Amino acid sequence: MLREPDVLSMLMRRKPAHSLAQEFYCDPDIFQIDMDRIWYRDWLFAIPSCEIPKTGDYVVHQIGVYSVVIVRGADREIRAFHNTCRHRGSVLCKSSKGRNPKLVCPYHQWTYDLDGKLLWARDMGPDFDPKAHGLKPVHCRNASGMVYICVADQAPDFEEFAATVARYLAPHDLENSKIAFESTIVENGNWKLVWENNRECYHCAGNHPSLCRTFPEDPRAAANGPDGDVSEEVRRHVERCERAGAPGAFVIADRGDWRLMRTPLLDGAESYTMDGKAAVAKPNSSIPFKDAGTLLKFKYPGTWNHFLSDHVTLFRMTPLDTTRTEMRTTWLVHKDAVEGVDYDVTRLSEVWVATNDEDREVVENNQRGIQTPAYAPGPYSEIHEGGVIQFVDWYAQAMVDSITGRAAIAAE
Ligand code: FES
Ligand SMILES: [Fe+2]
Repeated sequence: MLREPDVLSMLMRRKPAHSLAQEFYCDPDIFQIDMDRIWYRDWLFAIPSCEIPKTGDYVVHQIGVYSVVIVRGADREIRAFHNTCRHRGSVLCKSSKGRNPKLVCPYHQWTYDLDGKLLWARDMGPDFDPKAHGLKPVHCRNASGMVYICVADQAPDFEEFAATVARYLAPHDLENSKIAFESTIVENGNWKLVWENNRECYHCAGNHPSLCRTFPEDPRAAANGPDGDVSEEVRRHVERCERAGAPGAFVIADRGDWRLMRTPLLDGAESYTMDGKAAVAKPNSSIPFKDAGTLLKFKYPGTWNHFLSDHVTLFRMTPLDTTRTEMRTTWLVHKDAVEGVDYDVTRLSEVWVATNDEDREVVENNQRGIQTPAYAPGPYSEIHEGGVIQFVDWYAQAMVDSITGRAAIAAE
């Protein structure tokens, strides 16, 4: 059985700029430590806020052993609660989404307000204190239309991230958007392999024929080259976007857990479509030109996003077990855009539906290859895989900090 001290010493001994030891991708003990030390402690993207537009709208999000209800209150605030009744612990919301004026437990009908207050519990006697039996809250923040939760008792700082995101996402109106399409797939691979694959385009030319029509393979387009720099073309593009009120300069967190930057698509393409033209006639950004490229954002451990001039795609990762990872993709368009008039769902989604499936296949091949005893950590390409090196360095540091207690000290 592998324990935290073993993981620490394995991380200390790892070869820099190389893929991790087999156990990090295949061992259930390390998977559990990943969950305890990262997924149960950090901020995780759960849903776009436009998924629950009305009072009483809720979504249940499962992350490992935690079930979380995210609900819109009568005051328009979005809150999150552990999905367990304060009576004898029954699951409160059985469906994965819905709309209720109150949260009523299906077992003995204890009834909670949308802000978690216990309103009604039948025949609990004179000494019963309803105030002491409200729903247990989960940290919840709406950052420019993306709802993040954290199931830890003490959440890490969110302010710097939220403030930066507010600036970069200002031209993209997620609050006035709607989900035009969503897809959920399961990739038979460890969650870290899904990230490693996401953070490079070394594999794009050989695997992504439709994405390569519009997305540049050049690592400098995403600041993933050896010097971490962007190309002259990206620099000019960012200047043009910033003059139009759309921030785009490369910015990365000190801890390396999030990054934002704008980058142009190939040959003036407007969107991730087969012909490179916009997919939505009624855009959900205020950028005054269509060839604004994409605002690339990631926030470890759970999400990466593309904000285009006409629509937005949000990717959410949820580890299911050591070798299975759920990926949910949502395509957001302006709430008043009319399907069949302003956009066609197939045209809007086909490039990333195909790309997701192609990524699933390469991740699954990667997982299967790593499972053979012959696997040994191999070198990342410093020219193409700077993003992967960044991810693995973040992971190793986040684990070391959390296990040694350094993360807790930094948060105080
Ligand atoms: S367990 Fe919820 S009311 Fe009894
Ligand atoms: Fe890919």
